[in-house]
Amino acid sequence: MDEINPKLLEHFNNPKNVGIIENPDGYSRVKNPICGDLTDMYVKIDNNRIKDVKFKSFGCIVTIASASALSEAVKEKVLDEIVENKDPIKMLRNMIMNEFGDLPKEKLHCPPASIQALLSAIKDYYKKKEELNKVKKIEKVLSNINWYYKEGVEK
Ligand code: FES
Repeated sequence: MDEINPKLLEHFNNPKNVGIIENPDGYSRVKNPICGDLTDMYVKIDNNRIKDVKFKSFGCIVTIASASALSEAVKEKVLDEIVENKDPIKMLRNMIMNEFGDLPKEKLHCPPASIQALLSAIKDYYKKKEELNKVKKIEKVLSNINWYYKEGVEK
């Protein structure tokens, strides 16, 4: 990919949902294990539905664009649509990749940070509610996230 995808560029130049949510229902901070960049994610949940998502990222263009696209795509989603999906990481990844198309191999480690941050913020929400079966489910899902970080890196 020699040219930057225009949708990706648009999400980077005018990112949606940047900021913080005061008193969020769920929060997470993720450090990308490949490059060390940080992403904070906040969620507001109402009636088992994602009513608001905000993020702050000290990441690259792809990370910021990914967090922007993902935060838009999951708004108003019922949590179970994500958590009970048979492969939540793949589903969330598709939401990003459908928007941007192919990414260069060396940038494939960037979108997983937004996915991990979102799932971890949802996990934080369930933890506060003491819904431990959901917490465990998300932990199990996240145990596979490293594969996605390493996708573009020589193994
Ligand atoms: Fe660090 Fe993309 S998130 S290079």
